[in-house]
Amino acid sequence: MPFDCEDSTHANRGLSHPDVAHTLKRLHRQASGQDARVFARALPAIIAGKFTGRSTFEAAEPYLSQAFIPVSEEFGRFMYLTALSRGARNIVEFGSSYGISSIYLAAAAREAGGFFTGSEKDSAKTQIALANLQEAGLSRWSDIREGDALESLAPLEGPVDFLFLDGWKDLYIPVLKLMEPKLAPGAVIFADNIRSFRKTLKPFVDYVSDAANGYETTLLGIGSGVSLSVWRGRD
Ligand SMILES: C[S@@+](CC[C@H](N)C(=O)[O-])C[C@H]1O[C@@H](n2cnc3c(N)ncnc32)[C@H](O)[C@@H]1O
Repeated sequence: MPFDCEDSTHANRGLSHPDVAHTLKRLHRQASGQDARVFARALPAIIAGKFTGRSTFEAAEPYLSQAFIPVSEEFGRFMYLTALSRGARNIVEFGSSYGISSIYLAAAAREAGGFFTGSEKDSAKTQIALANLQEAGLSRWSDIREGDALESLAPLEGPVDFLFLDGWKDLYIPVLKLMEPKLAPGAVIFADNIRSFRKTLKPFVDYVSDAANGYETTLLGIGSGVSLSVWRGRD
């Protein structure tokens, strides 16, 4: 039977599902207003940090518990499509915040008959992210583990098909190494903020760019810079 664009079973799946689409639209709009207010509050500390040698992130961190700092719609859709095309069933995220990226990834997991596991150290954010996944109709196919991802993701069972790194940047390597023994051959790993945290993330970029470590990697100019790696495994 030819593909029928009018067929609601196709048109209503994934990101086009009304519950998913409405929740994402609401959250992206809320995030831009809320993050602008948070950064305005953090600005004096950021400026003071310039004179005391503190990085922008160090100065802003106390204010970030109420910031979304989400993926863009462009990057969310890109990850969704990548997961979809790979048929990723076991999708994992480090750093879920209020769950915007989680919704893109949980939607992909639902279509593959799989499961999405997020992680968030902030308790209030975790509860709101879970409520957002529920609003999007994705609770059955997703969970967000509260607490430090290095602990909460440790018991997770593999094989992991898709990993998204978006928590604090000094933990990209430890979280990746935690997941490494569980990665499926050909697993996809995305990491965000490669350009905006160029110095902090250099060791991470070096690690995934060295084929001897088992990865094939490219850097993409999406948003504040993204790395895309595929796990080949070590010989
Ligand atoms: C950039 S935000 C994530 C944005 C989210 N991925 C999105 O696109 O909507 C980073 C989040 O990582 C969380 N985080 C940082 N370190 C963490 C850790 N060790 N374990 C779990 N979450 C962590 C922070 O609390 C923050 O909410």
